[in-house]
Amino acid sequence: MCGVIGYVGKGASPEFFFLGLKRLEYRGYDSTGIAMVFDGKIHVQRAEGKLINLHEKLQHLPSRANIGIGHTRWATHGRPTEDNAHPHVSGHIALLHNGIIENYREIKNFLQEKKYVFLSDTDTEVAAHLLHYEFSLEQKNTSHNNILAMKNAILNVVKTIKGTFAFGIISSLIPDVLFTAKYASPIIIGLGENENYIASGMTALIDHTKKMIVLDDYELAILKQDSYEIFDFQGNKIEKNILSVDWSAQMLEKNGFSHFMLKEIFEQPEAVAQSLNSRIDPIDYHVFLEELGIKNTNVLLFEKIQIIACGTSFYAGLLAKFYLEKFCCLTVEVELASEYRYRYSTSNNKTLVIAVSQSGETIDTLQAIKVAKENNAQTIALVNVRGSSIGRICDDESIMHAGPEVGVASTKAFSAQVVSLLLLALGFAEKRKTISKETLSCNIDNLLKVSSYIEKTLKESDKINQISQKLVAEKSVLFIGRGPQWPIAMEGALKLKELSYIHAEGFAAGELKHGPIALIDENLYVICIAPKDAYYEKVYSNIHEIKSRGGKIIAIGFEGDKDLESISEHFIGISPCEEIILPFLTSAVLHLLAYWTALNKGCDVDQPRNLAKSVTVE
Ligand code: G6P
Repeated sequence: MCGVIGYVGKGASPEFFFLGLKRLEYRGYDSTGIAMVFDGKIHVQRAEGKLINLHEKLQHLPSRANIGIGHTRWATHGRPTEDNAHPHVSGHIALLHNGIIENYREIKNFLQEKKYVFLSDTDTEVAAHLLHYEFSLEQKNTSHNNILAMKNAILNVVKTIKGTFAFGIISSLIPDVLFTAKYASPIIIGLGENENYIASGMTALIDHTKKMIVLDDYELAILKQDSYEIFDFQGNKIEKNILSVDWSAQMLEKNGFSHFMLKEIFEQPEAVAQSLNSRIDPIDYHVFLEELGIKNTNVLLFEKIQIIACGTSFYAGLLAKFYLEKFCCLTVEVELASEYRYRYSTSNNKTLVIAVSQSGETIDTLQAIKVAKENNAQTIALVNVRGSSIGRICDDESIMHAGPEVGVASTKAFSAQVVSLLLLALGFAEKRKTISKETLSCNIDNLLKVSSYIEKTLKESDKINQISQKLVAEKSVLFIGRGPQWPIAMEGALKLKELSYIHAEGFAAGELKHGPIALIDENLYVICIAPKDAYYEKVYSNIHEIKSRGGKIIAIGFEGDKDLESISEHFIGISPCEEIILPFLTSAVLHLLAYWTALNKGCDVDQPRNLAKSVTVE
């Protein structure tokens, strides 16, 4: 959701803020803006729509300034118009915000009584005016020590508002100090040479510095060119760790691919290899749980596992359930975080709760893990971004090592999540002695083969492109699979709908006859995932049921499966392999199918409409 960038230092151009916001485009947005302080005045330019519209206005900003803030807005309160775009200005103050201020109406009434005039429909403008009001009072209290007055004013504002926020604040009265404060929405501080930065994600800063501080909830930071101070919301100064980030700017380039999504699909073999790297002993067959980040969890204690996640991460969890249950002989519940947090939770100190999140910032998952913590459950975060909010709140943080994922639709992170969860399943089972050495070694050997199998599967990309052209004009498509391929069917459907706006549903093949079969006629395509695994015969029967009702079949199965090929209108072959390798291959096929369908339909593949990569509002 909203992207934030801020700068204080020896001088930055409007292009600096623009490029920082470009790095955050993946988060999803619908309007943009930049504010800079120059010559004792605040200069603001804002634009509706994509960043290209703002680019045309950069010439109206000062060519350089020592301080400024930039924002990409994902509309919540008020339409995505220029007036509603951030930063919002109140007198000498410019403020931007990521989050939602829930009690904005009552604060607005109060401020209107004080004669503040509102120019937008946003909740954020309330914060700008309230800060201006509080600052005026604090100026008197602090004998016009403006930095102290602003610090106190921000502390007053964050105590008054209810909701979530990450603020970036500049003032023409204090032209060399950048302020930020946060609760629930992310803020990263970047430390440079004679310049410091803030951003809502590390990706906006890695062109400039690798030294970063992750601001925690209820913290406020005051940044100058050559120093920074961090305080809690009681005003006490606190010390924080400085992280050294191992992502490079090169990782954020398309490297010859037409889209980030395609690049990331083709990075899946590497993502899997990185996730396995140094976490298994391929000779003595052992999983190094410590290398997976499992340092505080008592693996022998839990009696049940709950996985909480959203979107694609939820499907990775559903898939992992098969293997966690099989290897660890435990009950595994997989829950949508947005449901889990509002329901009575049965978790307790004998429950292990695993939060799966690529970004580590998804608000529903973050709030759900807080519920689990209140119930004294043990908690593990499986995340891709080190130092993320979910990673820091859990007892253990396991990094999946997919590398930065920019395309809004998750692809390589899905594979990395699955392989990481499989490693956890094997590692827990080994420690709990619920797996034989033979099964463990066989599965470790198989996981080591996954990358090369995915590479072979990706060679089908051109063929999948051709088949996708059949789907471009479709209104609705079904996906079916059984066992571990059921979550893959749902993941395939999610990808198709989010990228190409075609209605799609994924069903357990066995459920077809309990409802969805009524949808089948000669106009409907059904994507059938039918590799020769333990469920093959059953799925094959289901495919016949579809065929006999005129449905059009696109099948994914083992190369050389003539029976399947002959019953299908289109057939995509994958190399015969062990069952544990299969989901990586079928998901890669479906990611490519969604990619090519969307592209052939002329959709924006990397930034589908209405979607955001990092969903930081409920
Ligand atoms: C958004 C993204 C999805 C992602 C989901 C969960 O909806 O568009 O691709 O799967 O959030 O994100 P997370 O970062 O928690 O895995």
